[in-house]
Amino acid sequence: MIYYPLQTLINAGIKDIMIVSGRGHAGHFLELLGSGSEVGVHFTFEIQEEAGGIAQALSFAKDFVYGDNVTVILGDNIFQDNIKDDILGFTSGAKIFLKEVIDANRFGVAELKGDTVIGIEEKPENPKSNFAVTGLYIYDCKIFDVIKTLKPSRRGELEITDVNNYYINEDVMGYRILNGFWSDAGTFESLFRANELVRDFSQK
Ligand code: G1P
Repeated sequence: MIYYPLQTLINAGIKDIMIVSGRGHAGHFLELLGSGSEVGVHFTFEIQEEAGGIAQALSFAKDFVYGDNVTVILGDNIFQDNIKDDILGFTSGAKIFLKEVIDANRFGVAELKGDTVIGIEEKPENPKSNFAVTGLYIYDCKIFDVIKTLKPSRRGELEITDVNNYYINEDVMGYRILNGFWSDAGTFESLFRANELVRDFSQK
């Protein structure tokens, strides 16, 4: 599964990649992926000791990113689109990637007004749209100051949705609706669907 999100980054021309994982799996990732030299990139590894949320995991990359912009992808998200142009065209603020889904209540859900995202709700009971916020984000380096202001959510995590709402409130959030398939693999159903999509795509 991890190869797919990594391939999305590599296809976009990214060469320095930090992998943040829980302690129990860190050795597996290291053994599987090595230094990255086989695929012409450089991997750095970092451990997240507790389930502190995506925003906490991202905070560990502060020194690694060192004042640059940063692209974040979740390790169970599978994308068909190429995001090279999104990265090359990114200057400041933040950018998210949306996909219309039938089970929006499983995700962060974007509310759109005209061509602006006016808010994101994390796993809402009554989603305001069918646009899921996928696990792919581009941020400027202010992100690390934004994360410092976050408070843990009800599930005890620093939420990436809170980060995104900060950028939305600052009026500096861009977005694109993805053309190709997207799936996470967080349920048995979505893992199965992700496998089917990859199989169909590989046969074309
Ligand atoms: C996370 C994000 C959510 C996003 C999803 C994409 O959810 O919090 O906003 O839509 O990834 O896969 P989680 O995997 O933590 O449930």
